[in-house]
Amino acid sequence: MAGLGLRGPLIASSILSADFTRLGEEVLAVANAHSDWMHVDVMDGHFVPNLAMGPATVEAVRRVTSLPIDVHLMVDNPDEFIERFAKAGATHISVHAESAMHLNRTLALVRSCGAKAGIALGPAAPLSLIEWSLDLADYILLLAVNPGFGGQEFQPSVLDKIRTLRAELARKGRSLPIESDGGINLKTIMDFAAAGVDIFVVGSALFGAGDYANLIARMRAEIQRGQKSRSVPAS
Ligand code: DX5
Ligand code: ZN
Repeated sequence: MAGLGLRGPLIASSILSADFTRLGEEVLAVANAHSDWMHVDVMDGHFVPNLAMGPATVEAVRRVTSLPIDVHLMVDNPDEFIERFAKAGATHISVHAESAMHLNRTLALVRSCGAKAGIALGPAAPLSLIEWSLDLADYILLLAVNPGFGGQEFQPSVLDKIRTLRAELARKGRSLPIESDGGINLKTIMDFAAAGVDIFVVGSALFGAGDYANLIARMRAEIQRGQKSRSVPAS
């Protein structure tokens, strides 16, 4: 049975933008501010031109919170790392369709490790890449920026991509949640919600803010506004 059975929109805090000298405190602070998930970016310097976070970081996050940990693998050869991240405490693991040689095998591997399996797509990757893998996916992650760095502005074309995927899933009678990542802030989150996003990854806009609880509450209000304005209802 695919899907995550979400009861409402979720905020996933991307710790890439956290203060790493106080990582435990930062994780606790966003958890106390009612973040729904922790989002951990993994970068190998090959698939993306940056390096970030390994299983030890996931273990550290797991020691301070019981919230779901959403690992976003931006690596070549994702199969080599999936088991280690699951053992470290990842509950959700997304892999880029562009990087998986045999995506269906990779998604099955994620599930066999006890985690929910997400398919991630960079902004230039076509939706057709996921077409024959939907049975093996629990959520779809549409990147709104070229992956590799926090603090970038989102590429507006992703909104059409989100709308197209939302309509396509509805047509197929599937209820897979859509996650989006990159450039989501108080000004843009309403557009993402209106387009049909269920899980909102927020990095620099959150960790740059003084009052996490206040910011997350305001983001949820913007999400509601966006959802109300949706022309195509979510399935
Ligand atoms: C980008 C990462 C994101 C990043 C988002 O490659 O996947 O998770 O942290 O950062 P913001 O929210 O600052 O765009
Ligand atoms: Zn990410």
